[in-house]
Order: sequence, then structure tokens, then C-alpha cells
Amino acid sequence: MFGYGDPRGRPELRAALADHLARARGVYASPENVLICAGISHGLQILSKVLADRGAKNIAVESYGLERYWELLAAAGLQTLPLPLDTHGTDPVPPVDTDAVLLTPAHQFPVGTTLQRDRRTAVVDWARRTGGLILEDDYDGEFRFDRQSVGALQGLDPNCVVYLGTASITLAPGLRLAWMAVPPVLAEQAAATKG
Ligand SMILES: Cc1ncc(COP(=O)(O)O)c(C=O)c1O
Repeated sequence: MFGYGDPRGRPELRAALADHLARARGVYASPENVLICAGISHGLQILSKVLADRGAKNIAVESYGLERYWELLAAAGLQTLPLPLDTHGTDPVPPVDTDAVLLTPAHQFPVGTTLQRDRRTAVVDWARRTGGLILEDDYDGEFRFDRQSVGALQGLDPNCVVYLGTASITLAPGLRLAWMAVPPVLAEQAAATKG
């Protein structure tokens, strides 16, 4: 247990997370596709390298989001393109020639709106149509406040959405513990990049 082990993380933890995420967030993942990382920021570092290595040039991000994430994506060579924001939150469908999109569907950061059903379907349709990748930052999806719980976007199509979760909000950011559920086609490359 104290050796270097599998770069994806301990198999017991990945199995427990796959089970928990299915029940709590409607995430569809097998333990093989779960990757433990040291924060969503670390997960984005891994994914931005995976995207750049696959030839991606740009990624759409939410207006008023976290600048340090945009810097991190830019450091991997990706151009960040802001998505428009209206009274319903982010309009998540980027132009067709966009390679990926980073979203906070549960509660748009920092505005707090929940991505509505028609927009969820529209962005998944975009990903299916263009081969684009959706990165779902589910930083506080466990909290539903006074609203009905909304499951993760990843459940709509686990082949084109990477789900990212963290213990930073529910427990403490000092833990540096987070997880990703990666589409099967990217799982090996993401594990090798982290390794
Ligand atoms: C939008 C957003 N994503 C993710 C995180 C958590 O990041 P990490 O897991 O790297 O601590 C936060 C924390 O404040 C956040 O505001």
C-alpha cells in the first residue's frame, strides 16, 4: 500500500468513488476510468496536457470563472474563449471549431445558476456532433441548498464528458483530494499523463 502503485490511485478508493458517484451524482463510471488527483486544478492540468497532445487548440470557459484555471489551461498551450452569460446562466454551446468546454453545471461559478435541461442537452449534442470534450467541474454538486437535486451532466453521455469532483468544499481544501471520471477512450492517456 505504501509503494508507488497504480498512477490512477488506490483501487479500493476508485471502486468506492465509482459506487458513491453513481448513487450521489448519477455519474456513470467504472473504477478503471476513475483517476485520483490532488484537486480539480491538478485534474485540469492533466486534462489540458491530454487535450494539447491530441491536437486541441482551444477551450471555452465560463465568464467570470476562476482566472487561475484559465492560466493553467493556457500554460498547456490552449487558447481560452469566454462563453456568454445571461439571466439563465452560461450559454454552454461554443462555436463548432472549439475543441473543449469547461463548465460548472451544478452551480455556475461564481453566479450560482444551475444549468437547465435544454442547455445540458444542447451542449452534449454539440460534443457528439463535433467530437468536442466537455469538462464538468462539479466542485460543490453535493450541496443542493433549497433546490431539487440535479445530477451530473456526465450521466447524459459518459463518452464525451469528463467529470471532476473534489473534497475541497465538502471536507477541506488542505486534503488536496479530488477525482475524475474519464471517458474510456481517454482513460489510458490520462493515467499515463498523471503517472
Ligand atoms: C469553481 C471551482 N472549481 C473547483 C474548486 C476546487 O478546486 P480544488 O479541487 O483544486 O481545490 C473550487 C474551489 O473553490 C472552485 O471554486
